[in-house]
Amino acid sequence: MSDTGLLSVPGHAPAVARAKSEFARDLLAGLEARPKRAPCKYFYDREGSELFERICELPEYYPTRTEMGILHAHAGEIADFMGAGATLIEFGAGALQKVALLLDALKRPGAYLPIDISGDYLQGVAAQFRQMRPGLAVRPVVADFTRPFALPPLGHDARRIGFFPGSTIGNLDRGEAVAFLRRTAMMLKGGGLLIGVDLVKDPAILHAAYNDAAGVTEAFNKNILARANRELEADFDLDEFAHYAFFNPAMQRIEMHLMSLSRQNVSLCGRDIAFAEGETIHTENSHKFTVDGFRALASDAGFVPRAVWCDPASLFSVHWLEAGAGRF
Ligand code: AVI
Repeated sequence: MSDTGLLSVPGHAPAVARAKSEFARDLLAGLEARPKRAPCKYFYDREGSELFERICELPEYYPTRTEMGILHAHAGEIADFMGAGATLIEFGAGALQKVALLLDALKRPGAYLPIDISGDYLQGVAAQFRQMRPGLAVRPVVADFTRPFALPPLGHDARRIGFFPGSTIGNLDRGEAVAFLRRTAMMLKGGGLLIGVDLVKDPAILHAAYNDAAGVTEAFNKNILARANRELEADFDLDEFAHYAFFNPAMQRIEMHLMSLSRQNVSLCGRDIAFAEGETIHTENSHKFTVDGFRALASDAGFVPRAVWCDPASLFSVHWLEAGAGRF
């Protein structure tokens, strides 16, 4: 544990250097691939996380408020499934209001463990929680939860409850989603996972949610280039790239891209990256599910799907998945 209260690799400077070099390595590999791509996990530095918080408040971006409404409407029932004395493990920190709502409903919550790739951001979230709930043990963990990682020791009798809101599962491809769920089912054995899952719907609603009038999603998408300029001494001209987001019906997903508006060359880590006019960098997928399709996926990964709650317009779903012992 560092003096910031964050569990991470020892020594902040080497961790920062390693994070930068992973970003450099993954971005270079993505831009040298065809078609070009950039991993969406790199959206979330401090600036990107703040932009995402603004997205969540946009009138067009229905997932956050809809999921909050579902949690609010069913908090008592959800708490009954979670049981007393649970340790709440949040995958991807920052859903402050949703976590607070759950903690209010939970009987004698044991501890809160937010897990996030962005140490800076996590530090802020942990500080806010310690202020809001002085009696609660808050144990932030810096980790990329899309890869295997270890939890700190929690005590044998701690019932582990995962919380993965916001339909972040949709940002993984199918193989990654099954692998994540499989690892999570193992980690939460004897407890369960509460997970928010966005549903397939009228493409016009989806299109608006990822092409907001205020341009916040555009800034969020372009932040990956801005971050490369800040951290990797790249020279992306943000005005020479356009935000391009659309629903791909065959894949049941929103795809986000950055489209080069001209033929241009960009320097990144001493390499020269050429772009044709109209060429895109594929930056994110956001898969949408049916309720039955998601339950089948969770079952494939070793969970026992129990309850599911939706809003009246069936825009979004929240699932309670049990991580029974011995099914792995
Ligand atoms: C974090 N994730 C679930 C968001 C989504 O809707 O896929 C990220 C996002 N991308 C653009 N707007 C929001």
